Amino acid sequence: MAAAATVVSRSFAATTSVVGGRVMPLNVTPQKVKKLQSDFHVRADDVFVVSYPKSGTTWVQQIVRLVQCGGTLPDSDTKISDAIPWIEGAEMPAFGCNMSLREIDEMPSPRTFKSHLPYDIAPGGAPHTSPARYIYVARNPKDTVVSFYAFVDRMSKSAIGFDPFSWDFFLKSFTRGKLWFGDWYDHVLRWWSWRNEPNVLFLKYEDIKKDLPGTVRKVADFLGQELEPEVVMNITRQCSFQGMKSNPTTNYGWAVQNLAGEMEARYPLLRVRQLCRSHHRDSSAASKDQIMMRKGVVGDWKNYFTAKQSTEFDKVYRVRMEGSGLDFEFEPLSEPRTLLSV
Ligand code: A3P
Repeated sequence: MAAAATVVSRSFAATTSVVGGRVMPLNVTPQKVKKLQSDFHVRADDVFVVSYPKSGTTWVQQIVRLVQCGGTLPDSDTKISDAIPWIEGAEMPAFGCNMSLREIDEMPSPRTFKSHLPYDIAPGGAPHTSPARYIYVARNPKDTVVSFYAFVDRMSKSAIGFDPFSWDFFLKSFTRGKLWFGDWYDHVLRWWSWRNEPNVLFLKYEDIKKDLPGTVRKVADFLGQELEPEVVMNITRQCSFQGMKSNPTTNYGWAVQNLAGEMEARYPLLRVRQLCRSHHRDSSAASKDQIMMRKGVVGDWKNYFTAKQSTEFDKVYRVRMEGSGLDFEFEPLSEPRTLLSV
């Protein structure tokens, strides 16, 4: 038991860096975060899509991308991670992009970025003093942690043949604020407290799920774009779960291959495992289109949490959210608005 726990904590430590006391992924180093705050120049026409991981970031990125071009992408073969680079993920091609920070800084306007950084270490400094626009998306934390766990599990099994983390370890780490990008409550509540700034739009996954066309319009208003009803309908169609899952530019099918390569370069021992992949590959490894687009529903946490885990989680949730004025829906939703109601 103790040996297994040591393997888990060592495996976890091997994937992390620490920035200002917060756990970050290995590639988000203190030096990089510092550079992003001091050397990166935010422009007035920059747009940032920000979230705690697994909250619907890719979904909002695709909405933003389509709103910006009036529903028809000029670069329809471009992967979403190239069109809207993950700024602190620079130099990590699997999920971020191939660009260096300097190349990102020099990208032509208008630029749109994805970021998972907490408010106080946002790229370019404090968003309320920045001329750029920020769209933050949050999701109920039970579905968020399930999506995060399922994602790491699928990625690990597909890329390196096994998953070193258990659900129990993952949930405990999330509740203690010890997963990558730090404490969920801290992340979401800090951004929430700035929600009324004119350059911040705060969205919730569950609301998008309930009313996708309404969200498209909200994003368009925030970005100062006027969209005809048929354009809203066209964007809504492209941003449906099935639409994004079957779209090779949004489903991150490319990420497994890239991550496997990056992991092997960093940890040569994995190459041996790679050679034996046919023996080691876990049969539950996900198909490529499920890497990012898994279920896309509200309430999947019920398939993961035990009754005890749920009760303990709820206790912490009540205390941490008290007085914030922010609440989430946790129950599966009835039929969302259809295209007919656009
Ligand atoms: P699940 O794992 O619960 O399915 P992120 O982009 O922040 O990593 O979030 C990924 C989550 O958003 C996944 O949740 C994914 O299925 C969901 N998602 C992505 N696009 C979606 C869409 N068009 N409709 C509904 N959910 C979507």
